[in-house]
Amino acid sequence: METRVIQVDEQHIQTGLLRQAGEIIKAGGLVAFPTETVYGLGGDALNPDSSRKIYEAKGRPSDNPLIVHICRMEDLAYIVEEIPEAALKLAEAFWPGPLTMIFHKSAAVPHETTGGLDTVAVRMPSHKTALSFIREAGGYVAAPSANRSGRPSPTCAKYVTEDLAGRIEMVIDGGGVEIGLESTIVDMTEEDPVILRPGYITKEMLESVLGSVREDRTMMSDLNGQAPRAPGMKYRHYAPKGILTIVDGEEERVTAYINERLDCLKREGHKTGVIGTDTTIARYRGDVCKSAGSRDDERTVARELYRILREFDDEEVTAIFSESFDTAGIGQAVMNRLLKAAGHHIVYL
Ligand code: TXA
Ligand code: MG
Repeated sequence: METRVIQVDEQHIQTGLLRQAGEIIKAGGLVAFPTETVYGLGGDALNPDSSRKIYEAKGRPSDNPLIVHICRMEDLAYIVEEIPEAALKLAEAFWPGPLTMIFHKSAAVPHETTGGLDTVAVRMPSHKTALSFIREAGGYVAAPSANRSGRPSPTCAKYVTEDLAGRIEMVIDGGGVEIGLESTIVDMTEEDPVILRPGYITKEMLESVLGSVREDRTMMSDLNGQAPRAPGMKYRHYAPKGILTIVDGEEERVTAYINERLDCLKREGHKTGVIGTDTTIARYRGDVCKSAGSRDDERTVARELYRILREFDDEEVTAIFSESFDTAGIGQAVMNRLLKAAGHHIVYL
């Protein structure tokens, strides 16, 4: 299959092009599209064959449920059993935006889309191209992140084509994404909402609307044999090919420790890499040193992290060290992804 790539500028959306993309979805095909978080691999959420194709294209186990993307609040009722009051409040505050909520599903959503579950994850993205595309596609687009399973989520169209060219009908290239990490997931099916995956919408932001919000116990920890409640979180996601170690501690000691380890690993024949920050990166002696941005604004780190992990793969780096990041605000989502990428391998100094 030849994959067509179309360029769509969020500021001057060409509806004609998105109509063609929408037709592909309606005919049961697959289209990757930009959102404000990461690129999604879209298919018709109400068509079981489309969901099967998504799993196949991604190389993903089919027990890992997909997120259904909508573009209008009035479309929600058709795919869920009921809309709890708390969900209405969160939608009012954070939709369209980087928040996914889990509901009891209605009969309209096939089990192929929900990985066999009776619940469904729903998100209304804020990216204008995504919203127009979803409308043209009939209103319900199932989309996981548009990477091959086991690779970092794509933050630009180039990475989507790297992973999926020849496997899907179309890629909508909308340039680089704004946030760079996947949406916050909140389970609304229980009395008290529970955060299953941290993201740009933080616990504090959710609590400012709802009062108290819980966190899934397995979210930031090594799993200890416990099944996480978002099935996708159990897979070894976001893992670079090289061995990744996070080093946590006071800045001077972290740079000194990492440099010592780098010298040693180089002698053993490793190609070494470092993820640092703007103020520290020049001090490292790794073969490939990349700054993830500024510690003063961890949103910059969120935006760069997946690109950096992919580049280490491309450059065939075999041993990587990363500085640790603050777990406040978006930093929690950064650390959640980094810990997964490192297989929870962290050194405390
Ligand atoms: O930002 C995002 O959420 C991106 C963009 C494309 O919207 N999408 C994304 O999808 O990250 P994906 O498939 O890579 O991650 C979806 C996560 C998985 O961990 C999955 O297990 C969980 O959501 N999930 C989906 N439906 C669920 C459900 N009914 N119950 C619990 N977890 C669910
Ligand atoms: Mg994913």
